[in-house]
Amino acid sequence: MREPRRIAVFASGGGTNLQALIDHFNPAPAPAARVELVVASRAGIGALERAARSGIAFVVLDAREIGGGEAAARMLAELERHRIDLIVLAGWLQLVPLEVVELFHGRMLNIHPALLPGFGGKGMYGMRVHRAVIESGVRVSGATVHLVSDRYDEGRIVAQWPVPVLPGDTPEALAARVLAVEHRILPLAVEAVARGSDAPPHVAGPVCFDLLDAPAPPEQSIRVTMGAMPADG
Ligand code: GRF
Repeated sequence: MREPRRIAVFASGGGTNLQALIDHFNPAPAPAARVELVVASRAGIGALERAARSGIAFVVLDAREIGGGEAAARMLAELERHRIDLIVLAGWLQLVPLEVVELFHGRMLNIHPALLPGFGGKGMYGMRVHRAVIESGVRVSGATVHLVSDRYDEGRIVAQWPVPVLPGDTPEALAARVLAVEHRILPLAVEAVARGSDAPPHVAGPVCFDLLDAPAPPEQSIRVTMGAMPADG
């Protein structure tokens, strides 16, 4: 059996998605992957506390403070030092340096709190996303996990999970409903990518991951089929 894939989680906030990944991967005796490093874009955030509590290595890299080139070099050095195989952006609010995006092509995932390709792109983060969803009048939103490319929110979609937009929803109410689903879909999507071609197609909740023809990692194709709406979603 091969070694667990070593994950770095990048976070800029409270880190509840980071926590979902830690809870899913780190306690199991023979997991497909483990969270080995947390990269935070600023000090004092919840994600760092969560890393410390779980005994996971962490580093603060604020590109705005350090400067782009230097931050990229330090990021690459940390990723190499911790022998990172996969990067997960979980509420990361800064640009990832191009060198890192290119090096981790097919091995970097992002979670977005809406159904891409709608409601994504530059400036679409946090409550702005949920406000735009409500104002548009769509009846369904959801969570999307996708591979990261050099364009905002445009990489290949790995998994999506729908969530209803209810009459009278506030951005906060919708955000909470989507976040609950994010915590469920993100570990499943990361696990599917970490397992790569060894993974049999499997159904998990309302989302069905099906690895197509499965070329060797890092570049893989995952077909996702929707099932029933989550009961608590
Ligand atoms: C999530 O909604 C995520 O999709 C978005 O930012 C939020 C992060 O929440 N990009 P947390 O830091 O994981 O609690």
